[in-house]
Amino acid sequence: MKQIFTCVFLLATLVSIVCQNCTTRYGYYWRDYRGSIPVDAFNVTSNLYIAQVLYDSVLIGGYYAGTGAVITEYEGHRVVVRDTIKFLCNTQRDRFKWVRQNAYSLKPDFLESMVIGGFEDNVLTYIGRIFHENQWKIGKVFPPPHPLQGLNVWTENEGRYITPDFEILQHTGECSFIDNKFVFDEQN
Ligand SMILES: *[C@@H]1O[C@H](CO)[C@@H](O)[C@H](O)[C@H]1NC(C)=O
Ligand SMILES: *[C@@H]1O[C@H](CO)[C@@H](O)[C@H](O)[C@H]1NC(C)=O
Repeated sequence: MKQIFTCVFLLATLVSIVCQNCTTRYGYYWRDYRGSIPVDAFNVTSNLYIAQVLYDSVLIGGYYAGTGAVITEYEGHRVVVRDTIKFLCNTQRDRFKWVRQNAYSLKPDFLESMVIGGFEDNVLTYIGRIFHENQWKIGKVFPPPHPLQGLNVWTENEGRYITPDFEILQHTGECSFIDNKFVFDEQN
């Protein structure tokens, strides 16, 4: 009888662990640029980093090591920004993954695990990369149905290049069993 009781108890414990609600935790963060690249900044190549700048909107661009500047695109033009730079950082770089994607297949549930990069034209934008004009470029991704849907990057002749095919940055979140009472939002 005692054995049966132990068995039921163990089973109940197991069920309660398995059935606990999982809160996805995205472990990345943004650090201010204070004259040097943060040690935990995420790089795309040995000298290219993902940066966020405030320039009318919150934009995503590439920080080129040694230049002190972020190159991005805004309203159809190549823009160079030297202030308000933040770097995308993470201690576990293998949680970031570049996913080959087409703009038409950016559905809301797919976007759930993509890294949010900025905010422009009243929509959240995501982070994309492409090898274009002989170099890696970082830019924002507008999901459909935005008229500029796809990856938007600058061009060498000061303009803009929009492509429906690109790689988008995903972060594989960690499941953390935080007690529900500590999760303040998404509850009402
Ligand atoms: C999980 O979440 C649902 C809905 O928010 C809630 O009804 C349920 O009690 C939660 N379960 C646990 C084990 O916290
Ligand atoms: C990031 O930078 C390090 C150090 O320069 C380099 O070894 C590594 O290859 C870079 N990562 C990528 C994806 O290029």
